[in-house]
Amino acid sequence: MERKVCICGAGTMGRGITMAVAGHGISAILFDSNPDILSGAAAQIERELAQEVEKKRISAIEKEKMIGLISYGQSLQDCRAPLIIEAIIEKIEAKSALFLELARVNSGETIFATNTSSLSVTQIAERTYFPDRIIGLHFSILLTE
Ligand SMILES: NC(=O)c1ccc[n+]([C@@H]2O[C@H](COP(=O)([O-])OP(=O)(O)OC[C@H]3O[C@@H](n4cnc5c(N)ncnc54)[C@H](O)[C@@H]3O)[C@@H](O)[C@H]2O)c1
Repeated sequence: MERKVCICGAGTMGRGITMAVAGHGISAILFDSNPDILSGAAAQIERELAQEVEKKRISAIEKEKMIGLISYGQSLQDCRAPLIIEAIIEKIEAKSALFLELARVNSGETIFATNTSSLSVTQIAERTYFPDRIIGLHFSILLTE
């Protein structure tokens, strides 16, 4: 299977998840509907990784490898992967609508993960026609900004 993850929503969580994915050597596509947020995310990720190099937590080569694994997308068409992790606004309608839209451009095997902190994963899944491919994920992420 292709080692690729699409992360939807380039806010605090989406940025951290993207770095975690790339840190494991997996290609990450960070998707957001807002172009300003997306360019802010690219700049912050670059800064965060530069700090990691300064603190000698990663090497400059590892940083460049991670940067090379991350791409940015503003169109739903960019968001094709075996695993999709959503970190968009905390609204059940928005999350299920996004999964429904993404199902149209992805294969019937793609797994959709929600990063919700307070909503019912079962209720999000029930709003789609592929509840067996919806899972919940919880991350512990610390960003410096
Ligand atoms: N530990 C955890 O797992 C944890 C912690 C905090 C928050 N969360 C959850 O993570 C999610 C994101 O939280 P955050 O603090 O990063 O939010 P945020 O507001 O910082 O970022 C949300 C981003 O989603 C984008 N967005 C909104 N609707 C979109 C759509 N339909 N398609 C594409 N992009 C869209 C916005 O432009 C914004 O950049 C929420 O569901 C929140 O409850 C989880």
